[in-house]
Amino acid sequence: MTDIIGKSEQERLKELAGEYISFSEPMSRHTTFRTGGKAAVFARPGSIAELEALLDWAAEKKIACEVIGGGSNLLVKDGGFAGILINLSRCTDAGFRPENGKEGSVLLRVSAGSGLRAFCGFAVRNRLEGTEGLLGIPGSVGGGIRMNAGTALGCISDILESVRIMLPGGQSREMKRSEMNFSYRSLCWNADGIAPEGREPLILEAVFRLQKSRESVGECKARARQIMEKRKKTQPWQFPSAGCFFKNPPGLSAGKLIDSLGLKGKRAGGAEVSCKHANFIINRHRASASDILALAELLQKSVCKKFGIRLEREVKVIGQ
Ligand code: EPU
Repeated sequence: MTDIIGKSEQERLKELAGEYISFSEPMSRHTTFRTGGKAAVFARPGSIAELEALLDWAAEKKIACEVIGGGSNLLVKDGGFAGILINLSRCTDAGFRPENGKEGSVLLRVSAGSGLRAFCGFAVRNRLEGTEGLLGIPGSVGGGIRMNAGTALGCISDILESVRIMLPGGQSREMKRSEMNFSYRSLCWNADGIAPEGREPLILEAVFRLQKSRESVGECKARARQIMEKRKKTQPWQFPSAGCFFKNPPGLSAGKLIDSLGLKGKRAGGAEVSCKHANFIINRHRASASDILALAELLQKSVCKKFGIRLEREVKVIGQ
C-alpha cells in the first residue's frame, strides 16, 4: 500500500503533518467497525493550515484524499485505500465557541473535527437544548453533518445555522443552512460552483442554534442519561459496529424488515446480524470487511426477494 508514496514523499508528508502521519496504517484502529484494510497514508493535521497544505500536496501529486470524520460510519475494504485518509480530530481551531444568539438561544461555533459526543456533552453541561437527537451517536461533527446524522428525536440539520466550508480550490466561505440540501441521512451539495468536477467541499466548522434550558445542570444530565439508557436497551453497544448499516426505506424500518425474515444471528465469517437490533451488523469475532459486505449483500438480497425493496447502505464503503 505504501508503494504509491516514495521515500522522499514520505519525508515531505512528515514535514507537512509532523508526527501525526503514518504509512500503511490499518484502518481497524480508526473505525468503529474495528476492521478494514490499510490506508497508504493516514494523517491527523493539527490545524486548518496544516490540512490545507496536505490537500494542496495531494492535489499536486494527484493522490486520492478523503476526510473520514470519526470513522464511525465507514468500512474500508480489505485491499485498503491507495491514498490519504484524513482525520480532523486534532484540527479543532474553533473548539466550542459561543456567539451571540437571539433571546433564549445561543449560537455555538464548533470545529468539524470535534466529536459528536463532546458536542453533546458541552451542550448538556452548559444547559443548552437541541442536541438530544445526537446523544450517543459516535463520530465527528463534520461527519455527522455530511450524513445528516440523527435519531427519532431529531437530526443534526434541525439545529444547524451555517457551516464554514473549504472549496476544492482552497478558498473557504460561510454557507447558510438554507443553501444546503438536507434530507434523511443525506446532504446533497447544491450544484452551482460548490462541487465542481464532482469534488466536494470540506466542512471546517459549523454554527448551531441551541436553546437555553430552564432546567438545572443536574436535570439536563439526567434527561441525557435517560435517552442513552433507552438506546442501550435496544442497540448492541458491546460489539464493534457502524451503527445502523442500512437507511430506513421511506415509512419503514430496515431493522424490522430484516428481523421479520428471521435473520437475527445470521453470520458470514466473523460478522453477525445483531440479535438485539437487526439493522446492526456487528464485528462479532475478527470479521473482515469482506465478511461484513457478504452479510450485507445477503440481507439486501433477502429483503429484495421477499418485499421487493432495495435496502440502501447508510455506511460508506471505500477502498479496493
Ligand atoms: N424493530 C424490530 N426488530 C429489530 C429492530 C427494530 O422489530 O431488530 C422494530 C422496533 O421494535 C421498532 C421499529 O422497528 O418498532 C423501529 O426500530 P428503532 O426504534 O430501533 O428505530 P430504527 O428505525 O431501527 C433509527 C435510526 C437509529 C436510531 C434509532 C432510535 C436509522 C437507519 N436508524 O433506527 O440510528 O438510533 O432510530 O432513534 O435511521 C444509525 O443511524 O446508525 C442509528 C443507529
